[in-house]
Amino acid sequence: MIPPLIFRDVSRQRFLAEYWQRRAVVLRQALSPECLKLAPDELAGLACEPDIESRLICRTGDTEWSLQHGPFDETVFGTLPERGWTLLVQDVDKHLPDVAALLDAFDFIPDWRLDDIMISYAVDGGGVGPHIDHYDVFLIQAAGRRRWRLSDRAFTEEDLLEDCPLRVLRGFPVDEDWVLEPGDVLYLPPRVGHWGTALGECMTWSVGMRGPSDAELMAAWAAHLAQGERPHLGDSIKGPVENPTRLSRQDIANACSLMQGGVPQDDAAFRRWLGGYLTEPKPGFEIDPCERPTSAEQSAHWRTEGRWLYRHPWARFALLETDADTLTLCCQGEALDVDKALAPALAVLCRQRQLPIDRLPLPPNPDLLDALLAELVTRGWLQSDE
Ligand code: SIN
Ligand code: CO
Repeated sequence: MIPPLIFRDVSRQRFLAEYWQRRAVVLRQALSPECLKLAPDELAGLACEPDIESRLICRTGDTEWSLQHGPFDETVFGTLPERGWTLLVQDVDKHLPDVAALLDAFDFIPDWRLDDIMISYAVDGGGVGPHIDHYDVFLIQAAGRRRWRLSDRAFTEEDLLEDCPLRVLRGFPVDEDWVLEPGDVLYLPPRVGHWGTALGECMTWSVGMRGPSDAELMAAWAAHLAQGERPHLGDSIKGPVENPTRLSRQDIANACSLMQGGVPQDDAAFRRWLGGYLTEPKPGFEIDPCERPTSAEQSAHWRTEGRWLYRHPWARFALLETDADTLTLCCQGEALDVDKALAPALAVLCRQRQLPIDRLPLPPNPDLLDALLAELVTRGWLQSDE
């Protein structure tokens, strides 16, 4: 079991009230380096796999960087200079369940916000240069030391270096300068300028968050509406038009009011859609259902045997109350309605990525739990240790 993030100088409550989504903060010794075990060779191995996204970044001059995308041939690592390069591998949590287990340490943040764990290895002087990101991120020092410089400037696209394969900032007035040791965590909200440089060999794990923009939400909602029968815009003529090229004020007003019909209401249908949308997998991380469905009898048997359940490392859960009688468990873009009698069991199930089945509180009718677990295992959202 991975212990939760340890809040020392800044309490968890203060972190959420004052820093989360607002200000950067260094959380000293927030994780045991024991939970952050991955050898540089293993990371390099992942970067050679065809389906895994990886980058190799070298600093080739004061304001010059080179970028190569994986998959890499393993011989490339023998040809690199002694200083100034870094290897970054995306979505390591999706490929290594032991790395995904670290996400349990962030259970004070909704599961649907967790995007991925990116892991980097850098030699002395290595890093990706000064830049901003558009998401919240926890930068965890896993091994070695890294210097982090932060800037309070509100950077825009105009501040990016031209003719550079990376999104690197041209100027970087430094307001804070930190050195992180293994177990230290730097939290950054979106758009804070940061510049990490390895002091000797180091490894950094980045727990990145996600959240759609208003435009992305609206586009996705509109695409959902478009799957059904929708009213279309007609014209408003009462007789022959004088000028057929005129777009009338009435037509414009009609378009506006037609679109109001598509504005979402906070009802059960919208809640189900939103839960599905927020848990949709990134392309390539769609979970296949099991070839052989699991029966409720089988899951009852597992329960009495005290077997373990494991959340699929690609699964993000969102549990919501869709109406007074129904709970809905969303995952992988889908919404599954569940009997409210299962609320205590779901509260435990959704909190831990791995757990023995007999830790789940039994509902008055245990068959309900057996049927639910069978459904979740059949969908592939949960796996048993069979
Ligand atoms: C890293 O180099 O591991 C972190 C990259 C970043 O600053 O986002
Ligand atoms: Co960054």
